[in-house]
Amino acid sequence: MKNILIIGGGAMGSAFTIPCIDNKNKVTITEPYSKKFVRDLSSKNKFHTALKLKLPKELKYKKFSKELLRENFDLIVIALSLSGIDFIGKELKDLKIKTPILVLTKGLKYVRKFNKIFTISDQLRKIYNLRNIFVLKGPCLAKELARKNQTSVIIANKSISSAKAIGNFISTKYYFIEYSKDVIGIEVSSAIKNIYSMIIGAGQSLNSSSNLFQKSLSEMRYLIKYFKGKEETASGLAGVGDLYVSAAGGRNSKMGSYLGKGYTFKLAKKKFMFNETVEGEQLAREIAPFVLKKIDKKKIPLMLALLRAILKDKKLKIN
Ligand SMILES: NC(=O)c1ccc[n+]([C@@H]2O[C@H](COP(=O)([O-])OP(=O)(O)OC[C@H]3O[C@@H](n4cnc5c(N)ncnc54)[C@H](O)[C@@H]3O)[C@@H](O)[C@H]2O)c1
Repeated sequence: MKNILIIGGGAMGSAFTIPCIDNKNKVTITEPYSKKFVRDLSSKNKFHTALKLKLPKELKYKKFSKELLRENFDLIVIALSLSGIDFIGKELKDLKIKTPILVLTKGLKYVRKFNKIFTISDQLRKIYNLRNIFVLKGPCLAKELARKNQTSVIIANKSISSAKAIGNFISTKYYFIEYSKDVIGIEVSSAIKNIYSMIIGAGQSLNSSSNLFQKSLSEMRYLIKYFKGKEETASGLAGVGDLYVSAAGGRNSKMGSYLGKGYTFKLAKKKFMFNETVEGEQLAREIAPFVLKKIDKKKIPLMLALLRAILKDKKLKIN
């Protein structure tokens, strides 16, 4: 039995508690930001409003604090959205903890000071001096995992044996874990699929979406290689696997479908998706300053079309 702390009581952090508990671990969850999730997790019946189910009674909720982070855990899981990474990086920075950290968050960050795109593990390592970081990505809808639907994900770390040790804590008969050494490729592909699933969603028929799917995958391959990941990672769970699930259902492809119908981003957001986060939009704005200046425009026409549509709030033009 391992002692696991999950930081982030949103849909994914909460769903992740379920395989961890089924694997007989002692699991504590904490929520640093959202009052709604604090209410859900600290309630008597632990009904999670985003997942629409009761979380296991064995799950412990503790209020977020520095003291909690100092407790003796075997694994700390970060399940915050991208905007929470700087916050948790600052909180963990001075604690000098040696506990392995498993990051579920997907995204990339443009760091102006270095004029570079950082993955989340880069950010935690280089800016916040954290060590012993593992990333877990792949095609996983939180609601499906919470209902114990068969799910396969991938853990990446330079040491496969250490990654396997972590995978053994959390895998179950419905939660399968693969392993990779290609940390950067896994992180880049799991982030940019949010942009490409919007592009695929813009196709107005299965024929056109399939064409966009294939072209998106070629661009993903190019970008993974550009950022020094392995091209073949695009064909794995964090690449084409995650692209499929995000294009088939999800907020990015829903926004893409409005863009494909000729709406501008702002109008579509206001009219149809007012209160919904579109992760692909946030990522597009984050990486645009780098991508537009540094990357060969001929290699990524779909990405550029989407960045222009979002940044200039113009109609999306893709062939
Ligand atoms: N690795 C995987 O298998 C997998 C699967 C699905 C989603 N995800 C990723 O997990 C992350 C969370 O997704 P979700 O569906 O739980 O989202 P969610 O909106 O349900 O939850 C977001 C979490 O981040 C916190 N948060 C938001 N803004 C914050 C801020 N400024 N400071 C601190 N905390 C903040 C929220 O309070 C909440 O805990 C996303 O990056 C998503 O892409 C990973």
